[in-house]
Amino acid sequence: MTPLERARQLVAGAERVAVLTGAGISAESGIPTFRGAGGLWRKFRPEDLATPEAFERNPELVWEWYIWRRALIGEAQPNAGHLALAQWERRVQEFSLITQNVDGLHDRAGSRRILKIHGDIWLSRCTACSYQRMDRNAEYAGPPRCPECEALLRPGVVWFGEQLPRLVWDTAERAVHDCQLLVVAGTSAQVYPAAGLIGQSRAPVIEINIEDTPYTPAVSVALRGVSGDLLPQLFEP
Ligand code: OAD
Repeated sequence: MTPLERARQLVAGAERVAVLTGAGISAESGIPTFRGAGGLWRKFRPEDLATPEAFERNPELVWEWYIWRRALIGEAQPNAGHLALAQWERRVQEFSLITQNVDGLHDRAGSRRILKIHGDIWLSRCTACSYQRMDRNAEYAGPPRCPECEALLRPGVVWFGEQLPRLVWDTAERAVHDCQLLVVAGTSAQVYPAAGLIGQSRAPVIEINIEDTPYTPAVSVALRGVSGDLLPQLFEP
């Protein structure tokens, strides 16, 4: 049996499914990943752009970077990988899509139950009060301020050194714990705690990636290729 045949067999037999996605699943939509060739962290230093300290030091620079990324993402369209996951959700009893991505492409592809463990780049939230809003194509001349308390707004993403949203994370852990199959697609599996979810699965794990990751030796099936090709193929007879 080929790895793809084995993966199809696992998919056909699972009614409680969890999926963990990373930046690789949006690569075919033209959104740069973080690590590897063309990765954002090859060109930019995370400590200048994606930490609470960076925002305190230079909110203008941090907002500029996020507005640039929003513009890139705004032009992108969901690809066949995002769409395959949205369709899978409609076929099984329980489906939890856990994503490290902040780009919102899973929403735009039609997925419904999405656990955004690293937040959402389209969300702007107040650094002082509980105000938050979803921005669409928002352009700012400078860092935006809270309409309620005048404090700075910040992007609604999780930065290095910050806690993950508690309820979302707990739900993701439960989904991995309870699933009959875990699919891990397009993540380098290097950023914790997200990557730690993979090791928590008691169910078989299918990994989809263009290259090996630290978890490859531990997974049940490793499929090598792009997620926009491989995810739709999981359902072909
Ligand atoms: P990375 O950039 O670390 O990894 C992307 C992974 O996708 C790599 O393993 C690639 O081999 C793989 N890949 C690239 N193109 C692919 C394709 N077309 N099909 C399948 N796989 C492909 O991205 P993440 O693992 O998501 O954190 O990074 C995790 C976190 O690090 C991000 O959420 C972000 C970043 O700092 C926060 O924003 C908090």
